Amino acid sequence: MDYENIYIEEENKVATITINRPKKLNALNKRTISELHTAFKELDEDREIHVIIVTGSGEKAFVAGADISEFADFSVAQGRELAAEGQQLLFDFVENLSTPVIAAINGFALGGGLELAMSSHFRLASDNAKMGLPEVSLGVIPGYGGTQRLPALIGKGRAMELIMTAGMIDAQKALEFGLVNYVVPQEELLPLAQKLASRISNNSPMAIKYAIKAVNAGFKYDENGYSAEIDAFGACFGTEDFKEGTSAFLEKRKAKFPGS
Ligand code: COA
Repeated sequence: MDYENIYIEEENKVATITINRPKKLNALNKRTISELHTAFKELDEDREIHVIIVTGSGEKAFVAGADISEFADFSVAQGRELAAEGQQLLFDFVENLSTPVIAAINGFALGGGLELAMSSHFRLASDNAKMGLPEVSLGVIPGYGGTQRLPALIGKGRAMELIMTAGMIDAQKALEFGLVNYVVPQEELLPLAQKLASRISNNSPMAIKYAIKAVNAGFKYDENGYSAEIDAFGACFGTEDFKEGTSAFLEKRKAKFPGS
């Protein structure tokens, strides 16, 4: 697929996807969502890529939301379909990806932008970042998982307030709430994401895949996290990564995980 609205850079087992519609503050239109789906899918299938970083181009925005111009005249059925399709192609897809995804929030992360960051496995922010779910100010609600993931990350009361007020919080408040793990000056954001990605990429891709599965299971109403953990733990014993990891430890050498 030829990408118009994103670009991808790869270095040392780490891929960085940059959402690139700076004139529209990187708003997620249909094409961008489709491009992101393809990019995440292909990078997840690429055994050379161990971590994916997602960020926005420019210094102002990560993503300022879903592209409002595309859905302003939608019917009830179209609105429902917009949410369902977006969740399937991007938001649930990213959350359940086997490859770890780090969101590097470099500015506004609003609506679908914050929802994409919350679908990612964890988040870092630059000190100019601002986050919120302003949908009720447009007469709609967060539809890409925001009503579920925000309470899971910051607690129900804080999420209710943020959603109802359509307000924004700054990076420091997001850090205090546990919405992001780190806040750094903008020029240090990608280097920090890369440093964390590099540490992750030394570990077993198979074990990380099973860890993501087990952690996510605890946040799904139809799964039992503890049972999922038992299954995922057992599955690790069938991997080449486990053989290599345990052998390397016993032989007092650094593991070289095959990722299988
Ligand atoms: N959808 C479509 N276009 C968007 C957009 C979105 N979510 N967010 C920003 N843009 C566009 C603006 O329309 C503007 O385009 P134009 O130059 O063709 O008029 C351009 O991006 C720059 O945005 P602008 O509003 O001029 O920048 P600002 O610095 O004054 O304000 C924001 C920045 C983020 C506060 C403001 O753009 C905003 O409120 N965006 C919408 C956020 C939102 O409600 N998101 C949830 C959507 S469900």
